[in-house]
Parts: sequence; C-alpha cells; structure tokens
Amino acid sequence: LHIVHIAVEMAPIAKVGGLGDVVTSLSRAVQELSHNVDIIFPKYDCLKHNFVKDLQFNRSYHWGGTEIKVWHGKVEGISVYFLDPQNGLFQRGCVYGCADDSGRFGFFCHAALEFLLQGGFHPDILHCHDWSSAPVSWLFKDQYTHYGLIKTRVVFTIHNLEFGASAIGKAMTFADKATTASPENIICYYKKMVSPTYAKEVAGNSVISPHLYKFHGIINGIDPDIWDPYNDNFIPVPYTSENVVEGKRAAKEELQNRLGLKNADLPLVGIITRLTHQKGIHLIKHAIWRTLERNGQVVLLGSAPDPRIQNDFVNLANQLHSSHGDRARLVLTYDEPLSHLIYAGADFILVPSIFEPCGLTQLIAMRYGAVPVVRKTGGLYDTVFDVDHDKERAQAQVLEPNGFSFDGADAPGVDYALNRAISAWYDGREWFNSLCKTVMEQDWSWNRPALEYLELYHSARK
Ligand code: ADP
Ligand code: GLC
Repeated sequence: LHIVHIAVEMAPIAKVGGLGDVVTSLSRAVQELSHNVDIIFPKYDCLKHNFVKDLQFNRSYHWGGTEIKVWHGKVEGISVYFLDPQNGLFQRGCVYGCADDSGRFGFFCHAALEFLLQGGFHPDILHCHDWSSAPVSWLFKDQYTHYGLIKTRVVFTIHNLEFGASAIGKAMTFADKATTASPENIICYYKKMVSPTYAKEVAGNSVISPHLYKFHGIINGIDPDIWDPYNDNFIPVPYTSENVVEGKRAAKEELQNRLGLKNADLPLVGIITRLTHQKGIHLIKHAIWRTLERNGQVVLLGSAPDPRIQNDFVNLANQLHSSHGDRARLVLTYDEPLSHLIYAGADFILVPSIFEPCGLTQLIAMRYGAVPVVRKTGGLYDTVFDVDHDKERAQAQVLEPNGFSFDGADAPGVDYALNRAISAWYDGREWFNSLCKTVMEQDWSWNRPALEYLELYHSARK
C-alpha cells in the first residue's frame, strides 16, 4: 500500500506530545512491513533541522494566492515532503500557539491535497490526525475525489478531543475509517463525561452513533528503537531486563547528580508531562507532597502552554527547592534527553490524567523498567493492570499485572495507588525488582497495532 500521512507534529523534528511520536513510529512500523509511506509536513522555521537527512528542493507550485516551495528529506528513515508556503504561515517560531492556528493548518491541509494532485500522486490511504489535519477529510471528499484520486481512502485518527471537537466530528463524518486508542473515552467525552463506566450507556449518543460502524480502537505502540535502554545515548549504562537493577541504579545516580538531589537509594517517582488540565494537575501536586511524606524523591519534567499554570509551577518549584531541595526537583521545560534519563532513573512514572485517549508515557516507562502508577482512564486503563486488583483482566490479555492504579480524581485516590507503590518498594525489594523486569519484558511496540492499522487500511479499500 501507499500511505500518505498529513500531519503537523512529528518526532523528533517538531514534537509537542504523543501525536508527534505516533506519526513517526507508526510510519516506521508500517514501512518495515514493506509498505510505502510518505508524510506531508509544514516546513516550520523551528524544525529541528539536524534530524532531517538529505534535504533537497523538490518543486514549487502556486496555490492559495502564494508560491509553495516543496522540500524533500528523510526523518528517522521516513520520506517527508515539507511544504514551505511563501506567505510566512509557518515562520512563527512555534508549532502551535498563534491566534490563526486553525486557518494556518486549514491552509496546510488544502495545500497538501493540492500538492498530491499537482504532483500526480495516487496514494491508497490518506491518514490524517486530530483537529489540525481534520480538514483533509472533508476537503478531500468535497473537492478531490474526482481527480484520479478516486481509489484513495481517508483514515482519520483521533488523538485528543481537547481542542477542535467539532472539526473532529466533521472529519468523522467524511472519513472512510476512524480510529482512536480508547473509543469509550471519546464516546464519553461527547457526552461530557469522563468515566468509561458509562460508555455503554452513551453508545447511542447522536454525534458519535452514526459513525460507530467505522470507528475502531487501536492502542498506540512505541518505537522500540527510539526508546531503547540498551541503546540510548542519554543514559549511563545500557541495560535490558537481565541487568535492569544495575542499569537503573546508574541512571538514578546520574539523574540525582545532574539535578543536585541527594544521592541516596530512595523510591524515585518521575512525572513527564504537558502541564494541562488533562494531565490532572491537582493530582500531580498532591502526589509530589505525598511522595515526600513517604520518604521518596520526585522529579517532574513538564511544561505548561498556559502561562498561569507555568507560573504556578515555578512557585511550587521554588517552594520545594527550599523545603525539600534534596528530594524534589521540578524542571519546567521541554527536554527530550532529560526525559530519557528520568524514564531510566525513576522507579515509578506517575500518570494521573483526568482523561487520556492513549498515553505513551506509561508505555515508555515500562520499556525502561519504571513501574507505572496511573489513574484508571482511557488508554491508561487499557495498558496498566494493577498488581493487587487486575490479575484476571491482565490474564485475559496474556499479561502479568504491571503497575498500580486508582479510581476517582481526588487526593485519596492518588494516595491509594502511590502508598501501595512506595510500600512495595520499601517492603519487598526483590519482588519490586522482579516487577521492573516483568514490565520491561512486555511488548508495547507497534508489532501488534501496526498490523491492526494495516488491516484497517485494507478494509477501507474494500
Ligand atoms: P500527550 O500527547 O497527551 O502529551 P502522551 O503520553 O501520548 O501524552 O505523549 C507525551 C510524549 O511527550 C511522550 O513522548 C513524553 O515523553 C513526551 N513529553 C511530555 N512532556 C515532555 C517534556 N516536558 N519534555 C520532554 N518530553 C516530554
Ligand atoms: C494525545 C493524547 C494521548 C495520546 C497521544 C497519541 O495527545 O493526549 O493520550 O497518547 O495523543 O495518540
């Protein structure tokens, strides 16, 4: 098959969150299964150009009242066409955050379709993602199907409904197939609910129900080559599940030294996140204090798009620096290399999201032998099985339990999971070390989900 993704985030050249990881890693996984994948991407001025190989001018065309230069290069082995409109839309020093974002990305989607048309491409699948490339779905069906692109099918993936739910709803209408990691979450969202418990009751919801027949749940994977503790330049000792204890000890030491924390063998809770309402900010704050009370260490790596939240965390960071400087550090920025060291050095990765369509941090954590502590929602519920409560649910997936989880969205909920996690660390190191080994050996790569995507691509063409 020939699959063309039209997307606005891509790791590592322009990654904001999990969408960027998925665009790159799904493409790589599908390409490894001998299919042909291209990505059409905006040529942001803030691209991390050092990750683009063989960048060359490809062609130029006119559309939308401007010249659009096209560049071609390879990112992580994937072919990428960069659209560079000469009207300055992508010369803003950022991916998102401009008042005219929906106009900029709407322009990009239309320009991408025009590029395919003018370049004589006939992809089997156009795969678009979230509100930012949702317009591909209806623009294509509206204006392009009759141009020799009659065999092209549109697959739309919902990663996050936080923004642009109406564009997403419209894209669902026009797409041939729609996917998301945890469909129950999406259905609940449309009903303005968060708990999956009610999912079945709302399956008849009017926005979603007409599209349920084309809506599929496919859990994301992670790229095992990009996230590989045995081959990772950002951690001190390469490790597999065989020497996980030694590898993680060295990483913890380096993390403590780098951040000026006390060099001690304490249970270390890591948090790596965008700081937004979705991620359970009040629960994160509570968990920091709780961990300190339980004689643990905390490292948070996060950044907030909202300056008020960022300020709030700067204040908390200062407060913690004076009260618990040897055991808590908040690093309030985006830092990919540091994230690798935290996944490797942490005993636990906390993800207390209010809603989470899939979540990658818990999957990456497991790859690095860090035990996830999560709120039971969306993809977190689908991938983390509580050691005390989910044995049967795990068995049904042919898995061993792999973490700690909690219900509710309040302090006692987090405490329930965190207390058990920290106690397990203090009371049974041997058991805890074997849990680290277990989580490392679970396969959260694209091995299975890429096949599910391929099945979906094929079924879209029938
Ligand atoms: P979302 O897409 O909602 O932000 P995911 O869990 O799907 O959540 O993906 C988050 C991705 O972004 C992970 O790869 C995580 O490691 C990364 N990440 C989040 N915050 C930071 C940060 N401050 N610095 C580095 N990486 C981060
Ligand atoms: C989103 C979601 C996250 C998901 C990611 C990739 O941003 O918030 O849960 O893992 O997209 O699909």
